[in-house]
Amino acid sequence: MTDPSMAGPLSGRRALVTGAARGIGAACAKALAGAGAAVHLADILTPDETARAITDAGGKALATRCDVADPQSIEALFAAQRDAFGGLDIAVTAAGILTEARVTETSVEAFDRIVAVNLRGTFLIAREAARLMTQDGPPAPGMGRIITISSELAHLGRADFSAYCATKAGVVGLTKSLARELAPGILVNSVAPGPVDTAMLSLEAMSPEWREKETDIPLKRVGTVQEIAATVRFLAGPEATFFTGQTISPNGGAAMA
Ligand SMILES: NC(=O)c1ccc[n+]([C@@H]2O[C@H](COP(=O)([O-])OP(=O)(O)OC[C@H]3O[C@@H](n4cnc5c(N)ncnc54)[C@H](O)[C@@H]3O)[C@@H](O)[C@H]2O)c1
Repeated sequence: MTDPSMAGPLSGRRALVTGAARGIGAACAKALAGAGAAVHLADILTPDETARAITDAGGKALATRCDVADPQSIEALFAAQRDAFGGLDIAVTAAGILTEARVTETSVEAFDRIVAVNLRGTFLIAREAARLMTQDGPPAPGMGRIITISSELAHLGRADFSAYCATKAGVVGLTKSLARELAPGILVNSVAPGPVDTAMLSLEAMSPEWREKETDIPLKRVGTVQEIAATVRFLAGPEATFFTGQTISPNGGAAMA
């Protein structure tokens, strides 16, 4: 069995990934661990299965249940991070929810919940990450990395997804502002995927018309979680030292900047 924590471009680096129980977050956690990072997995569901897959492959993983919308839950998450890893080098905020409703049918409660998870949750993780990364003073240039997960829909907008799109556009604005504020020690970038085959998209449950709509993009297919994770791993790695405040979109050409 190989031991990824012994070698690889991220060896010695300590990562935290939210939304790591499944989908894009799980793929990001595996990709970072595969590159040698020790990874703390956080999710409102139990992320134990992803953690087991990482440790079975010889990597280092810790799993914690956490609701990113709840500041107390985040406090406990970062206490566990400090205890187990002693610090933090890379934070990836993949936890998110999607709701579909016409604006006329969207309640204040539904709007507030998606903002609390997608936008406030990203803010809280980024804030605590920045605090931990600077606990011993400003890190050397580029040593800290915060990678948010937004969406191509932040730029495109979409009928019946207004609350979701608003949160993801908020994540892009947050990313740019944090990039300016935390430079040069911490690089802050966003990955804005196009449609990706996960439980969130539930491609299998879609009608053929919707599936066709979803893949009516230049590359004629949805993305894989591995394709998104590869972008995150790049932004977390030693070759991405001149990126900050950027939003990179692996999206099959669905949106072009
Ligand atoms: N799948 C896509 O097409 C797509 C496209 C663009 C962006 N995204 C974004 O990628 C991210 C990951 O989505 P995915 O497609 O893997 O979906 P997913 O539903 O498979 O995974 C989301 C994960 O977030 C977790 N989560 C939800 N609420 C949480 C909370 N309050 N606290 C902690 N964890 C919570 C879920 O339990 C789940 O494990 C999301 O931010 C999503 O908005 C997805």
